[in-house]
Amino acid sequence: MAKKVLVTGSAGFIGSNLAHYLVKEKPEWELFLLDALTYAGNLKNVASILENENVHFIKEDITNAEGINKIFEDHKFDMVFHLAAESHVDRSILNAGAFVMTNVLGTQNLISASRNTNVDRFVHVSTDEVYGALGPTGKFYETTPLDPTSPYSASKASSDLLVLANCKTHDFNAVVTRCTNNYGPYQFPEKLIPLFITNAYEGEQLPVYGDGLQSRHWIYVDDHNEALLAVAEKGKAGEVYNIGGPDDAEVTNIEVTKAILEGLGKDESLLKYVEDRLAHDRRYCVDIGKISTELGWKPKVGFKEGLEKTIKWYLDNQEWWKDVKSGDYMDYYKTQYGGN
Ligand code: NAD
Ligand code: TYD
Repeated sequence: MAKKVLVTGSAGFIGSNLAHYLVKEKPEWELFLLDALTYAGNLKNVASILENENVHFIKEDITNAEGINKIFEDHKFDMVFHLAAESHVDRSILNAGAFVMTNVLGTQNLISASRNTNVDRFVHVSTDEVYGALGPTGKFYETTPLDPTSPYSASKASSDLLVLANCKTHDFNAVVTRCTNNYGPYQFPEKLIPLFITNAYEGEQLPVYGDGLQSRHWIYVDDHNEALLAVAEKGKAGEVYNIGGPDDAEVTNIEVTKAILEGLGKDESLLKYVEDRLAHDRRYCVDIGKISTELGWKPKVGFKEGLEKTIKWYLDNQEWWKDVKSGDYMDYYKTQYGGN
């Protein structure tokens, strides 16, 4: 019988990319794409794969325990990739409630439904942000103490701990992944790279927080997808696996900004320094020794190549982001950036 695999958050950025990747790599799997379709979820991201008879969409909110239990009872999934989340740090600073509900309570509902229906493997997709901020040197290891600084990262750290505690208490067959910042197609244009590509294209300002010297360790989303499949198939229950970009992808925000302006043939007059984010993490960089050694995974896409591909995708898919950058998005933009 075909393996039944659930992907939560599959109308969002990474979830939709993962769904496309799994359809390609595992055509024999029956895929169930679950999403509440919040502001960040967009069915257009998965429309082309929903034509496949092995792929189904389920609209449900993971905070609704009753609804989630019924879905798990009805389908008896073999594997779950859990990506549904409130994911934007700036929104968590404005209003943290939904982050606790979805990221903490929603994760607990999925753990409980998975245990009750004997799910064989639960992949909890988390973030390196749970480790807090690094100084100018050093890296995050799986053993680095958790020290989240934003309501977003605090809610993700809480969900990681719930998953890991269930592995200990109930022999829950779960793995936790902690990945660095992703970029690529279908990323909601509130995050740095798609926001700056689309603003630059439209001749709008690029709001760089603080001095712009914070750095992130960027990973192209396809590399993340490949790592998630490796962890799902070969990872050890109860373990955490860091996932990170290649060495050339640890870059400062100002370098990213300038590379985007150059890629679009725009000049630096669009760059605007604005007030810094509260408790802005200075630097993230993960050590990927464990996943490389134990599971044989390494990122393949260098930052220059990944950024070129991403800029091309946004240029080729203007209808997608112009649609997204309207309505409620504009209200958020005005609150966050004061109508810039
Ligand atoms: P996203 O915001 O683009 O997508 C999240 C998806 O979850 C959306 O489709 C949304 O509709 C759905 N969702 C939100 N609340 C829900 C709820 N209550 N019930 C059901 N669905 C709900 O986020 P993303 O960037 O694709 O991130 C996916 C996961 O990967 C998150 O768990 C995030 O913490 C993690 N992660 C993201 C990054 C990154 O750089 N984007 C890096 C590391 C880890
Ligand atoms: P973001 O894409 O929000 O990811 P995260 O906060 O999860 O790392 O931001 C990436 C970096 O870009 C982060 O250091 C904050 C910075 N940033 C800006 O300077 N201006 C912006 O408008 C945004 C959205 C982010």
